[in-house]
Amino acid sequence: MASGTSAAPAGPDPAAGAGTPAERPAQERHVPILLERCTEVLAPSLAHEGAVSVDATLGMGGHAEALLDRFPRLRLVGVDRDPQALALAGTRLARFGERVTLVHAVSDDLPDVLDDLGLDVVDAVFFDLGVSSLQLDEVDRGFSYARDAPLDMRMDQTRGITAADVLNTYSHGDLARILKNYGEERFAGRIASAIVREREREEFRSSARLVELVRANVPAATRRTGGNPAKRTFQALRIEVNDELAVVQRSLRSAFSRLAPSGRLAVLTFHSLEDRIAKTVLRELSTSSAPPDLPVVPVDALPPGELLLRGGVTADDVELAENPRAASARLRAVLRRPLDDFEGRNGSPGSLRDPRGPSRDRGRRRTVTDGPGRPDDPHRTRNDRDRRTGGTDGRTQG
Ligand SMILES: C[S@@+](CC[C@H](N)C(=O)[O-])C[C@H]1O[C@@H](n2cnc3c(N)ncnc32)[C@H](O)[C@@H]1O
Repeated sequence: MASGTSAAPAGPDPAAGAGTPAERPAQERHVPILLERCTEVLAPSLAHEGAVSVDATLGMGGHAEALLDRFPRLRLVGVDRDPQALALAGTRLARFGERVTLVHAVSDDLPDVLDDLGLDVVDAVFFDLGVSSLQLDEVDRGFSYARDAPLDMRMDQTRGITAADVLNTYSHGDLARILKNYGEERFAGRIASAIVREREREEFRSSARLVELVRANVPAATRRTGGNPAKRTFQALRIEVNDELAVVQRSLRSAFSRLAPSGRLAVLTFHSLEDRIAKTVLRELSTSSAPPDLPVVPVDALPPGELLLRGGVTADDVELAENPRAASARLRAVLRRPLDDFEGRNGSPGSLRDPRGPSRDRGRRRTVTDGPGRPDDPHRTRNDRDRRTGGTDGRTQG
């Protein structure tokens, strides 16, 4: 089992690609990872009448479908930055009718998405980070180094810069920085120099030339071990093109800020960099401001969150045998403390301002593509929810 905190992309590498025909339906294109555990950890906040859940990375809709099946009155807001994924998930989830609203957006836009839908708070938010099997397996998306393809790698092909743009325009310093920081590539400087040299001869357009360049610029011993030496470069480019790490950091905080008391946030990560961010953010949300030696934490110093699944959950051997893509997955979760925990305290419990920092993509277009505009009681406000919720809702801290 990969730990999710290792130095390099762990486990069988998804970017090796698998080759899936374009016509296959969503359910055949992506096997939802840790499905049972994800459903279990969110379940206590979703059993009541009027519950609303957000899938902030809808993908092929596998996790969303499981929640909608299990909770027949649940309403779900499904967000994805990839219009192709939304279209496929929309077909898969069509049988749930108005219980589902699909929104084309990046997950750090969630507060605006919820405002547009008239939702002040929601009961659960789920993130299944990274790329889907659809994106990896479609050759022309350019995520896989296994087959020659245009160097695109955008999760949303309607906007933004491509991997080819990065390779052809970034300075040597910036290339070396992203290869080192986002790919944890030991030979970042050497590969960046080769890229700058080679693009003088001819611009980069497709993946095979980049794969060959990386192979030629790492020591022979590295070539022989640890799979394709280009995998770290591909991971770095993908993260840069989609601004993945900054987006995850903003998204987790802003999603937590819109959880109802007793609401839950769960996040599945797939490599050490995003897992470190998830671990840090969830820990901050769950750490008291009281001095550690106090025998009892005063109500005023209670953190807004309570960590669930301490240390995270990874796939078991049965799942790994069926789905090697689960090898690097780690599930983490946090509970928004119920109001009971804050009895006697003035003001709202652990209220957070919208923590989104400036985004290079601010003002991105958002499109509600399916279902009703207001998937929940339009009169429901944060205060209504505060009055209704309470109790520990089966907390599973461990
Ligand atoms: C691993 S897949 C999700 C799979 C899904 N849970 C399922 O069972 O089918 C990740 C999806 O999230 C989308 N995605 C990744 N990061 C995102 C973000 N920050 N905002 C919105 N969508 C994102 C990708 O486009 C991709 O479709």
